[in-house]
Amino acid sequence: MSDADCVAFLQWALPRLQMRWPGFRRVRRQVCKRLARRAKALGLMELGAYRRYLEECPSEWAALDGLCRITISRFYRDRAVFDLLRHELLPHLCAQATAGGEGALRIWSAGCASGEEPYTLAILWRLELERRYAGLALHLIATDADPHLLERARRGCYGAGTLRELPDAWREAAFRREGERYCLRERFRAGIEFRREDIRHEQPEGCFQLILCRNLVFTYFDAHVQRALAARIAERLAPGGLLVLGGHEHLPTPLSGFAPAAPGRGELWRRVAAQ
Ligand SMILES: C[S@@+](CC[C@H](N)C(=O)[O-])C[C@H]1O[C@@H](n2cnc3c(N)ncnc32)[C@H](O)[C@@H]1O
Repeated sequence: MSDADCVAFLQWALPRLQMRWPGFRRVRRQVCKRLARRAKALGLMELGAYRRYLEECPSEWAALDGLCRITISRFYRDRAVFDLLRHELLPHLCAQATAGGEGALRIWSAGCASGEEPYTLAILWRLELERRYAGLALHLIATDADPHLLERARRGCYGAGTLRELPDAWREAAFRREGERYCLRERFRAGIEFRREDIRHEQPEGCFQLILCRNLVFTYFDAHVQRALAARIAERLAPGGLLVLGGHEHLPTPLSGFAPAAPGRGELWRRVAAQ
């Protein structure tokens, strides 16, 4: 199967799944490999035949949807954003929660992959914030549609490459070596609940002070789904709460109820009262 065949197939199939081709352009190899494997497993020689199969067999679309998940993640991904969270934004949220009489810092990590993002927050919390905000507990809900990734998240063991952006001292404190793998110590797993949820159909109930929705909705889903999910996310953010997007992502327009949370950083938004 050539790259051109895969591109043509994706440009045909993705809009039918309410997804957008530009989001996949740079990272399509992962999906193309899975498509080739799936076609082969069905005894089909090329993607044109797989396309005809999809047209005749509507239940295959659910399988294709699952093949189109990009699963790349890393600890402390987008260093500048995590530096800001660490030094300014999270201490501010904690102070705000404490002043408001809250007992917990409530966080939702949407599309949490194998746990890299929620565990980065848990490490930050345990190593730098917990003692300063002793009246707060950490409640972190981490959701993903992929059960295999969630299983890996619960195991909590990673290769060195995934940890390369994490500050060295944090890696030393939070992980123990098991051969080539780094496994998260027990105290950094507390306070996190992993849930299998397809964000298009369900979102955790509750009111969060921080929501991370990075490199998922606003990259891969089409404009209609983006708008619908931005509204669902806004409903779940506390006033003054923070929404973090991926580095190349934007909120759909027009959308009220959000203001930039840090000058020059298009991925950080604060929830304000809608006009
Ligand atoms: C590119 S990764 C991003 C991981 C992490 N947020 C980050 O930025 O490093 C996208 C994640 O979204 C998950 N995902 C894809 N479609 C989803 C859906 N409909 N509902 C929930 N999670 C989904 C994938 O399984 C994958 O773990």
